[in-house]
Amino acid sequence: MTAVSIRLARPEDAAAVAALFRQLGYPSTADEVRERLLEHGGDTVRALVAEHEGKVAGIIVVNLIAPLHVADRWALVSALATNEAIRGAGIGAALLGEAERFAREQGCSRIELSSSESRTRAHAFYVQNGFGEVRKRFVKQM
Ligand SMILES: CC(C)(COP(=O)(O)OP(=O)(O)OC[C@H]1O[C@@H](n2cnc3c(N)ncnc32)[C@H](O)[C@@H]1OP(=O)(O)O)[C@@H](O)C(=O)NCCC(=O)NCCS
Repeated sequence: MTAVSIRLARPEDAAAVAALFRQLGYPSTADEVRERLLEHGGDTVRALVAEHEGKVAGIIVVNLIAPLHVADRWALVSALATNEAIRGAGIGAALLGEAERFAREQGCSRIELSSSESRTRAHAFYVQNGFGEVRKRFVKQM
């Protein structure tokens, strides 16, 4: 496993995070990402980055959900990407591990995410990391 440290994303990471979001297929400018990092710094969203050799090499964003029909909270991973130049080195698993630790700390009883049908390598990664595929997902674009 590559030497990597996980820390909270900071506004100055915006350009590197925007590059990762582009690799994920969600293009945003560094300014847009900076604004979102500043705006969404509250208790219900946590953006963590992986730093490798002094550079941001991965990002995970965890959103907390508070349903009313159960007492627990749930965690939703809304984005996860590692730099394509260094995939397969354990950075994704390290980010997911930290996200799980955060979710547990916050009283979440589960952590979940959606992944496009085409991301078959990512699906294998989630299964390797203990996730199981459940249910159908219904989405309406607004
Ligand atoms: C999925 C992803 C976050 C995993 O991060 P990572 O740093 O490569 O993960 P790890 O090194 O901890 O785990 C490696 C495993 O991830 C999977 N994997 C997925 N895409 C991979 C890639 N491009 N290269 C290498 N491994 C990949 C494999 O199952 C691999 O296991 P293996 O080495 O036994 O084949 C990363 O590959 C990525 O950013 N992919 C593109 C964006 C994406 O699909 N994000 C998830 C959206 S739901």
